Amino acid sequence: MLKIGHRGAKGFEPENTLISFQKALDLKVDGIELDVHLSLDDELIVIHDETIDRTTNGNGFVKTLSLSELKAFRINNEHEIPTLIEVLDLVNQNCLVNIELKSYETAEKIVVLIEKYVSEKNWKYNQFIVSSFDWNALQQVRFLSEEIHIGVLTETDLDLALAFAKFIQARSIHPHFHLLNKENVSKIQAKGIHVFPWTINEPEDIEKIKQYNINGIITDFPDRI
Ligand code: G3P
Ligand code: CA
Repeated sequence: MLKIGHRGAKGFEPENTLISFQKALDLKVDGIELDVHLSLDDELIVIHDETIDRTTNGNGFVKTLSLSELKAFRINNEHEIPTLIEVLDLVNQNCLVNIELKSYETAEKIVVLIEKYVSEKNWKYNQFIVSSFDWNALQQVRFLSEEIHIGVLTETDLDLALAFAKFIQARSIHPHFHLLNKENVSKIQAKGIHVFPWTINEPEDIEKIKQYNINGIITDFPDRI
């Protein structure tokens, strides 16, 4: 069962920062989860919201700001907003990277980036998962690459997610943990698809979900797994 740090180690450090990803690595995660948007100049930026308002000292939509403009803002007065390349180079193949696409426009860029890391930096396809609630974005990833591992995100409809996952030959389904029980987890796994629920933080929820034999847990507190 894989231990996957949500937005790095969000329970310990500011989400989606290099220090948060380093903390997750220090906690010996098997993987990290992060969120990506595109900047005005088409750089892959690691940030959860479509604006920088909640997490930084600035404001505005990520897609209206250039990388250099984004780099001028600070998270908790000290940390820069990282690019995906900065995070991958920090991780340096020490765990898998679950990249959540927050917009359709990121799909093509992600395929190009992952293929570059595989062909030029010796990363393996199975060191990446590309996940999204935007299933059109996932379909575009599959159209562009047969190799990339895809994770179908859902918080509402597990049956529909399973049908779609089979259709695009996804590697995993990432459901909100409240959707799961032992039977539906087995049903998904019987199709050769892994189950990575999110975001499970409370010890009693962790214990309960482990009984379902899921393939991994996405958590803000990797030390609790
Ligand atoms: O990838 C699982 C989880 O991160 C999805 O929800 O809102 O935390 O991006 P959110
Ligand atoms: Ca996410």
